[in-house]
Amino acid sequence: MSYQSHYFKEVREAQSKAYAPYSRFKVGAYLRTKDGRTFHGANVENAAYSMAICAERSSLVAAISEGYKPGDFESITVTVDSDKPSSPCGACRQVLKELCDDDMPVYMTNHKGEMIKSTVNELLPLGFSGKDLN
Ligand code: THU
Repeated sequence: MSYQSHYFKEVREAQSKAYAPYSRFKVGAYLRTKDGRTFHGANVENAAYSMAICAERSSLVAAISEGYKPGDFESITVTVDSDKPSSPCGACRQVLKELCDDDMPVYMTNHKGEMIKSTVNELLPLGFSGKDLN
């Protein structure tokens, strides 16, 4: 299913749960599974700054912890409060590559409602995966 207006409402609600007292940069993620479940993710920071967990990975870890498997995901929508729609960091791109289909849509949004559609493969071309271990 392609992007729908309620994805934006959901991802903004996810963002409202961010714990970002250090950067004050709140990020939300809205992950949808192929069987219709949804998961919110938000960034969770720490006084030891490098321990911060990104919103994208929060949502994926929540879903995997509930029993979902690699390939079970339909799309992820991400949001930030920036002039430019969100852009998943390199670590999140690698985790998306691990757990999601290469052609899974990644909808990147901002507080203005702007949206850029990409895919896992477009965000991490020539990425490393389990197939490369053979
Ligand atoms: N952040 C995310 O949640 N997702 C990204 O893809 C980029 C960065 C968070 C981590 C940190 O809490 C804050 O944004 C500033 O880097």
